[in-house]
Amino acid sequence: MALTSFLRFLRVCCLAGLVGLALLAAGPRPAAAAYVLPPLPYPVEALAPSIDATTMTIHHDRHHAAYVANLNARIADHPELDTLPLEELQGRISRYPAAVRNNGGGHYNHALFWRVMAPPGQGGTPSPELEAAISAAFGSPEALQQRFAQAAAERFGSGWAWLILRPDGGLAITSTANQDNPLMDLPGIERGTPLLGLDVWEHAYYLNYQNRRPDYIAAWWSLVNWNEVNRRFAEGLKTSSASES
Ligand SMILES: [Fe+2]
Repeated sequence: MALTSFLRFLRVCCLAGLVGLALLAAGPRPAAAAYVLPPLPYPVEALAPSIDATTMTIHHDRHHAAYVANLNARIADHPELDTLPLEELQGRISRYPAAVRNNGGGHYNHALFWRVMAPPGQGGTPSPELEAAISAAFGSPEALQQRFAQAAAERFGSGWAWLILRPDGGLAITSTANQDNPLMDLPGIERGTPLLGLDVWEHAYYLNYQNRRPDYIAAWWSLVNWNEVNRRFAEGLKTSSASES
């Protein structure tokens, strides 16, 4: 009986070995996509009425998904992208052609955008530390909102408005064209850690607001996820003090 079991065991081992050899002979498995579309952290209708569900669906499932797919399509030409973290790619984007810049930026910016928004009433408030930094840089939270809205409204064509943590520890408001962002090592970009970013491409608001971008900007402010901005601010301060020491 024991011998029968042992023979059966041997047969199973041989079969498993043969299957393994066959798989090896078939060649390497195609690499998994390096960059992945993150799911929205809330339901598509959660940001209404400021941003409607259809806009959120199209924005995430088509626009953001296309940036991710197009970025992954560039891995064949730039194999190191297979393992390069998305944030690190931004800091060396000047080495790459426009397709990587546009789609790599698009992926990073949108992944951040979903996180810095929260359903109305769920975004919290600025931490005491962030509030102090806002007062030091802009005078008041209202002045921050006003200057941020102005940067977003004045961005000609498609682009983004940003609140950034500068390398010196202060805050600043900037804007970038297309899918560029403040992490990119490109001329003309004021660099810093993005704390808050607002997408002012027409695809972000046109269904609901048409050409009324200022109305979208004003309504969007009530969606700011200060809990996430606070986290990014604290993390950014830690990183910059670590790099100084
Ligand atoms: Fe967008």
